[in-house]
Amino acid sequence: MRKIFVVLSLIITSFVCNTAKADGGMWLPMLLYMNESDMQAKGMKISAKDIYDVNNASLKDAVMLFGSGCTGEFVSNEGLLFTNHHCGYSYIVKHSTVEHDYLTNGFVAQSKAEELPCPGLTITLLKYMKDVTKEVLEGVDNSLNEIQRKTLIQSNIDNIINKEIKNTHYTAIVKPIYYGNQYIMYVNEVFKDVRLVAAPPSNIGKFGGDTDNWMWPRHTGDFSVFRVYANKDNKPASFSKDNVPYTPKKFMTISLKEKNEGDFTFVFGYPGTTRQFLTSFAVDEVQNYEDPIRIKLRTEVLKVYNQAMNESPAKRLRYASNVASIANGWKKWQGEVKGLKFLNAIEKKKDFEQNYTDIIPQFQKLYSDNHSYKLREIYLGEAVLASQMMKQARQVLSLISTSNSEATDEEVSALATSLLKSLKTYYANDFSSQRIVDSTIFVKTMLIFYNDFAKNNYTFLRERISKNYKGNAEKYFGEVFSKTLLTNPKKIEQILSNYKKKDSKKLLKDASIELLSPIWGEYFSSDVYYLSENNNRIDSLYRIYVAQIMQIEKGKMFYPDANLTLRVAYGNISSFKPRDGVTYKHYTTLEGIVEKENPEIYDYVVENKLKELYNNKDYGQYANSLGEMPVAFIASNHTTGGNSGSPVMDKDGYLIGINFDRNWEGTMSDILYDKDLCRNISLDIRYCLFIIDKFLDAKHLIKELNIVR
Ligand code: ARG
Ligand code: GLU
Repeated sequence: MRKIFVVLSLIITSFVCNTAKADGGMWLPMLLYMNESDMQAKGMKISAKDIYDVNNASLKDAVMLFGSGCTGEFVSNEGLLFTNHHCGYSYIVKHSTVEHDYLTNGFVAQSKAEELPCPGLTITLLKYMKDVTKEVLEGVDNSLNEIQRKTLIQSNIDNIINKEIKNTHYTAIVKPIYYGNQYIMYVNEVFKDVRLVAAPPSNIGKFGGDTDNWMWPRHTGDFSVFRVYANKDNKPASFSKDNVPYTPKKFMTISLKEKNEGDFTFVFGYPGTTRQFLTSFAVDEVQNYEDPIRIKLRTEVLKVYNQAMNESPAKRLRYASNVASIANGWKKWQGEVKGLKFLNAIEKKKDFEQNYTDIIPQFQKLYSDNHSYKLREIYLGEAVLASQMMKQARQVLSLISTSNSEATDEEVSALATSLLKSLKTYYANDFSSQRIVDSTIFVKTMLIFYNDFAKNNYTFLRERISKNYKGNAEKYFGEVFSKTLLTNPKKIEQILSNYKKKDSKKLLKDASIELLSPIWGEYFSSDVYYLSENNNRIDSLYRIYVAQIMQIEKGKMFYPDANLTLRVAYGNISSFKPRDGVTYKHYTTLEGIVEKENPEIYDYVVENKLKELYNNKDYGQYANSLGEMPVAFIASNHTTGGNSGSPVMDKDGYLIGINFDRNWEGTMSDILYDKDLCRNISLDIRYCLFIIDKFLDAKHLIKELNIVR
C-alpha cells in the first residue's frame, strides 16, 4: 500500500493544486489556531483565542445549541438570546391560538414576568472539547471484526464520559470525526428553563415564506428572541418561578458599522450534516434517486396542504409548522440536484477516485447492494407514512405486536391510552376537513408509490389490487382510507378505551393494517438490519478511504464533516454570479420588501406600520451610510442546516448578522462546496434591531444590548 501512495502522490499533488480553490470549511474551534494566520490574512483583527478559549471567557461562551437543531447567541448579560424565527417557530406556534395569534401578529413580553415558558426547549452550552482518540481506540486493533470494534469503542466511550463528568452537573458526548479516525469529546451544560421573549409577525419573520426560502435576494426578518433562566447559583434548573435570568460568561457586542463587499466575516455555530467525502456512487444515489423521489412525493403533499392553508386561519395554524419543514427539504433538494449537476459532481468524484482504485470497487459493490433497500426506506418515509392516518396506523401496529408479546395487561392498556390520546389530536379541530386533506394526501402519495415502485416490488399489493380491484389502485387506496377504523373516531375509541390483548385481532383486520403490516413487517424484519449492517460496512470503508486521502494529501488542511458540534466557518461578504449575465448584489434593503408586497398572498403581506416606517425613512440609528434600511446580506461562509441562528461576526468579533439560509444555487455545498457559487444568507443585525426597536417598540430589550457604532 505504501508504495502505491508514493507512486500516486505526484498525480495527486497536481489534483490537490487544482482543487485547492475549493475552499469552504467548518473548523473545530479547539484547532482554530491553525487557521489563525489565514483568517487574519483575510481581514480578521482578533485572535483564535478570542473565539475559543477553555480558560478564559471567549466568544464560544456566547454561542449555544438552540433546541436540537439550531444555533443561538447571547446578546445581554441577562441571558437574552437571538436565534431565527424559524428556529423558534414551533414554540411560537405552541403559544398561538386564533385569539392570540402570536405567529401572525408577533409577540413582545413587556416584562420578564410576561415571558412565555417553552417546556422541552433546551439550550446547550459547550464548556470545553478535547481530542480523546487515544482513549477511545484503546485496545482496538486489526484483530477485531467490525462488531467487536464497535462494542469496544462504545464501552471505552462510556468510561471516558463517566470519568469526565463524575461529580459535575455537566453532560458529555463523544463524537467520531473523519469516520472514526478521530474522536472528540464535548462537555456541555444544558439549560432547561428557556422563555419566549419576542417574535416579529410572520409576515416579517417569514416574509417571502416558502417561495423565497433558499433564495437570494432575500427579505426575511428571520429572528426571534428568548431568554435562558437559571437557579440562584446561575446553574441549569427545570422551570421554576424562582429561577433568575442566566448570566453568561460572555455575550455578543453588536456592531452597527457599515459593511462592505469583501469584508471579513465568520459564522460560529452548530452545522448539522455535511458529506464532503461521498464517493461518486453515493452522489449518484442522492442526485438521481433519493432527492428526485422525495421531491416528487412532497410536491403532491404540499399542493394539498397549501390549498387547505389558504382556506382559513385555523387551518393555516394547524399545518404551518409541519408544512414549513416538508417544504424546506423539498426546495433544498431541488437546488442540490441542480448544483450537483452544474458542478458535474459525479464526474469530478470519479476522476478523484481513480487514485484510489484499491478501495473504490468495494464502495461500488456496497452501494449497489444497498440500492433497493434504500429506495424502500425512502418510499416508506415519504409515501407510506406521508398521511397522518398511516402515522397512526404505525402506532396501531406496535400496539398489536405488544398485545401479542409477554407484555403485561397494564403495559398494553397504557399503550392503548397513549394511542387514543394521539388519535384525539388527529380528530381535534374539525376532523371533517382534516379528513379530506389527509385522505387526499394518502391516496396521492400511495398512488405514486404504487406506480413508481410498489407494483414491481410488493407482490401482495399488486395481486390484491389486480384481483380485488381490477387493477384500480386509486379505488383500493380510497377504500382503505374510508374503511379503516382510524377514520372512524367513535368506533376506534370504543375499542381503545377499554382495550384488552385479545382486541388486537380486530385491529389486525383493519384496512390500514392490512396495507401497512406487510410493508412495515418486511422493513423491520429484514431491511433495517440489512441497512444498518451495510451502513456499518460503508462507514468502515470510508474510515479507510478518508485516512488514505488524508495521508496522501498531507499538505492540505482538512476539516471534519459537520456533525452538529460547534464549528467556525469564515469568508467574506461577497456578491455572486448565479448564471451567465446575472450578478447578485451582496445585500438587500427594505425597498425590496415594498417591491415584493402583495396583499393577496399571505407571505407577501406588508404591515402598514412597516410601510409607514419606510415612507418616513424612520430608521433611527439603523440605516446604512446611504440612508437605506439593510435587511440581509450574503457571504462565502460554508454553512449548513443547524447553522440557522448562528452569530455572524465581523473582523472584531462583533455581531453583524444572524445566519438563516443558503442560496439555492449553493445547496450542494453539503456534498461539494464551490466558492464561486455557495453563499450563506444572514439577517442584517441592523434590520433585526430596527424591527425590535421601531416596529415592536420593545425599547426595553434594546436597552439590554451592548451596541457599538
Ligand atoms: N431554509 C432555511 C433552513 O434550512 C429556512 C427554513 C425555514 N423557512 C421556511 N420558509 N420554511 O432552515
Ligand atoms: N435554514 C437552515 C437551518 O435551519 C440553514 C440553512 C442551511 O442549510 O445552510 O439551519
